[in-house]
Amino acid sequence: MPLLLAVLICTLKFVAGEPNNLIVIPLDKQYVPIYRGEDVVAYKTAYFGDIFVGSPSLEFSVVFDTGSGHVFLPSVKCESEACRAHRRYNESASSSAIQLDHEGLWAGGERDEVAISFGTGEVIGNFVEEAVCLNGKLTDGACARVRIVTANQMTDEPFQNFHFDGVIGLGLANLAVDSQFSFFEQMARSGENFVPQFGYFLSERDDVASEICFGGHDARHMRSSLQWTPVHDPHKGFWQVKILRVTVNGEEWSRAPPQAYYTIGYR
Ligand SMILES: *[C@@H]1O[C@H](CO)[C@@H](O)[C@H](O)[C@H]1NC(C)=O
Repeated sequence: MPLLLAVLICTLKFVAGEPNNLIVIPLDKQYVPIYRGEDVVAYKTAYFGDIFVGSPSLEFSVVFDTGSGHVFLPSVKCESEACRAHRRYNESASSSAIQLDHEGLWAGGERDEVAISFGTGEVIGNFVEEAVCLNGKLTDGACARVRIVTANQMTDEPFQNFHFDGVIGLGLANLAVDSQFSFFEQMARSGENFVPQFGYFLSERDDVASEICFGGHDARHMRSSLQWTPVHDPHKGFWQVKILRVTVNGEEWSRAPPQAYYTIGYR
C-alpha cells in the first residue's frame, strides 16, 4: 500500500495558499546493503532529491531527513574519499554566501567549527548563510536564506556509499542550533504564500517515483482522507506521534506497549 505521511508544524500560522503553490520534488531511491561479515543481511533505503544552492545556483542532491535539524553539504575544503565522491560546495564561488562564525559574521582568522552526528556518522564543518532553493534556481525557485553547515570532514561510514551529497533536516526547530539553521522555519518565515506543510509519498514500486511536497501534500496519492494528530513533546524537535494500538491482520496486538512512540527519520 502506498504510504503517505503528511505532517504539519502546528505552531506556525497558516498562510492562505493556492493548491498550485505545491512544490513537488521527485525522490530517487537507493538500496544500501548492510553487511554482517561478507554477507548482505539487509538493505537500508535512502530517498533523496535535488535542491539548488548559492549564486550561481548549483544543484545538490539531499536527503530530506525528518530526524535532524540542519542543512549540510560537503565542502570543497574536504578532500576525503567520502567528500570527493560527491558534489562539493564552494563558498568562495557563491556571491550569495555569507561566511559565519558561531557568533555571527566571520571576521577572518580561525573560524569556528561545529560537529554534528548523523546516524552512524559525523560531520565537522563551518557555518555559511546561503540561499537554498527548492524547485529551481535563485531566480525562479522557492528559496530561503538559511544557515548551512559546510562539511570540512565527513566520515566515510555511512556517507561514502550514499548517492546523495548532503542532508536537509526537516525536524522541528529545536533540533537545530537555532531556528536560523532550520530550512523549514526559514522557508515559512520568508516564502511568500508558503503553506508551512510538507508531505511524503513513498512508493511501494521502484518504477513509480517517490516524492516530497512542500506547501501541502499531493492529494493524488491518497486513498483516504487525511487525519491530523498532535506531535508528542514537540520541544524535543522530533516528529513523534503516540501509537495507541497496533493491529495485525485485524487482530489487536496485545503485547504492544500501551504507549509507544514513533519517530520518522533516517538512521
Ligand atoms: C572555489 O572558488 C574560488 C573562487 O571562484 C576558486 O578560486 C577556487 O579555486 C575554488 N576552489 C575549488 C577547490 O574549486
